[in-house]
Amino acid sequence: MMTSALPYANGQIHIGHVAGAYLPGDIRARFERMAGSDVVWVCGSDEHGAAITLRAKKAQVTPREIVDRYHEEMQQAFEGLDISFDHYSRTSSERHHDVAQNFFLTLLEKGSFEVKTEAQFYDPKAKQFLADRYITGTCPKCQDDGAYGDQCEKCGSALSPTELIDPKSTLSGAKPELKDTTLWYLPMGRHERWLKEYIEKGIFEGQPHHDASAWKAHVSGQCRSWIDSGLQSRAMTRDLDWGVPVPVEGAEGKVLYVWLDAPIGYITSTMEWAEQNDARWQDWWKTDETELIHFIGKDNIVFHCLIFPILLREHGGYILPTNVPANAFMNLEGDKISTSRNWAVWVNDFLQEFPGKSDELRYVLASIMPEQKDSEFTWADYRERVNNELADVLGNFVNRVLVLTRKYYDGNVPAINAADLNNTDHAVLETLSEAPSQIADLVRRNRFRDALQAAMGIARLGNKYMTEQEPWKAYKANPTRAAVILNTCIQVAANCAVLLEPFLPKSAAKLQSAFGIENPTWADAAPDMIQVGSILSELPILFEKVEAEVVDAQVSKLESARAATNVARPEFKPQKDTMTFEDFQKLDLRVGEVIACERVPKADRLLNLTIRSGLDERTVLSGIAEHFAPEDVVGRRVTLLANLAPRKIRGIESQGMILMAETADGSLRFVTPEEGAEAGDVIS
Ligand code: 2FM
Ligand code: ZN
Repeated sequence: MMTSALPYANGQIHIGHVAGAYLPGDIRARFERMAGSDVVWVCGSDEHGAAITLRAKKAQVTPREIVDRYHEEMQQAFEGLDISFDHYSRTSSERHHDVAQNFFLTLLEKGSFEVKTEAQFYDPKAKQFLADRYITGTCPKCQDDGAYGDQCEKCGSALSPTELIDPKSTLSGAKPELKDTTLWYLPMGRHERWLKEYIEKGIFEGQPHHDASAWKAHVSGQCRSWIDSGLQSRAMTRDLDWGVPVPVEGAEGKVLYVWLDAPIGYITSTMEWAEQNDARWQDWWKTDETELIHFIGKDNIVFHCLIFPILLREHGGYILPTNVPANAFMNLEGDKISTSRNWAVWVNDFLQEFPGKSDELRYVLASIMPEQKDSEFTWADYRERVNNELADVLGNFVNRVLVLTRKYYDGNVPAINAADLNNTDHAVLETLSEAPSQIADLVRRNRFRDALQAAMGIARLGNKYMTEQEPWKAYKANPTRAAVILNTCIQVAANCAVLLEPFLPKSAAKLQSAFGIENPTWADAAPDMIQVGSILSELPILFEKVEAEVVDAQVSKLESARAATNVARPEFKPQKDTMTFEDFQKLDLRVGEVIACERVPKADRLLNLTIRSGLDERTVLSGIAEHFAPEDVVGRRVTLLANLAPRKIRGIESQGMILMAETADGSLRFVTPEEGAEAGDVIS
């Protein structure tokens, strides 16, 4: 049983998603099908949670409109990239609500939750409890100041809103208030002991469960450090109106936590698949022989390795994941991929702008897949890999094989005599006989980059062999030799057609049809795959080279997206704490006029202003010297805070402050009263 993280239906799929959870799943699933394993691979749209409702709020539409739109768009992206899920579901369906509610009720009956009525953060303006992405603050673990109420995406820690340092509502920027509500908690601390054994030793309920050493070090390492620092109870319900309603009397206005319902979505998706395929879903979730593998990104590790296993075990009857090969993140052109900043390569855009080039993108993403640590996509690298590897090695090789076979043998695979093979030929064929099991082993260990390298190594070997053996020379001087070389090259190319299928499904299909191979299995790859006398057909150009202008245009597109984001979306500072009218009345604001101005010696940032206030002529020091020259300031009317307690700065007493506005690009503007207001006029 394989799953890939259900993507939030709140935006488009980008290359980071693909490289993280979908391409690795697809390579593995395609391989397993070819190898004859009984595999089911499910996914679906994650349609609940703050990710959706916040997006809807921003677009001023309903959550339903958002999920309907992106559920469609995400599926288009997956289809366009030949991501071959056996089933793709969605969590807003009635069916899923039923499954998730029943799961919750079973846990409730088993006493898996602690129900607590407690003070929670509440935004009085938005009239809403704040959790998850509704609340942000500083991470208590890594000090990143963009942590959310349920998770810090920077260090991956699972958090509760009350753990955040300096929390703020993302709805209004307000400092939240506390208000009582009832929540169902999962007391994770109860589960530390068995989880530790499960993660560290691969032992579950006293029995060997999986090979713990096969888990990626960064995955088990993260889990270990969470367990060792003590697992906190986590709320499994939310006070929201979008989600799976809590199926308990008196729980109106409460829904299941999205991270409770989303992984259950894997089960719902399998149920739907089973119904459509005359199969039993229980065979995939409830039998010990089944291996359960979750493909995810590293920000989802805690949910799949700790929380979901707890839920499955508490429910009872379910198997637990045998591996969670989480990938790290993929960056883009030196920066983090970001949906809100439009810093991404969107799959649907790519498919539109590069029609028919899905294999090229798959190839590059698989080559640089962030399997152990973050990696980086650049358009220059895309171009190099397509041109130098796909076009010059694979494309060039198979093209030469087919052209020469047509030219010399009318497209018939030439007959050869085993005795005519020399050591070089034998070495090539030996490599072919070892390759399928070597690549299979790498794919089974989720080492997709190495597996692709090994498969491409076959094409590289064929290309080199052909160049060195020069069949075009042998054809005249030694026809027997030419036949051996061409026959060997044909075997190599045909093996590529099979072994590259999990990575490059479209190109592999074209190659297979050129070499007359139909629906191959992994076991078909062998040194004598293509029989003498078989007829090879033509193959259109497999990979076109990418011009420099094409990738330059993509980089410019990214840069202009960045510029547009900067102009259109300044970061507004959150509102400060409320003050009373009485507080405000304490401020003595007046119109002032600058009658003299000079720099303050040895202070780069300070200007010394002499201001006519109506009451007097006073000295005010202002930190604006990096923005204005003294001559720009003299004669201006300004807003003066007259009753600020005098302060000595660099030996000069400053008697007040002038107000400035900071613009989105960080420059300063004077707050100048309208024409007609004069020095001394009181502002109130
Ligand atoms: O991080 C995310 O995009 C989540 N929507 C992944 C959910 S995976 C699962 F458990 F469904
Ligand atoms: Zn953190």
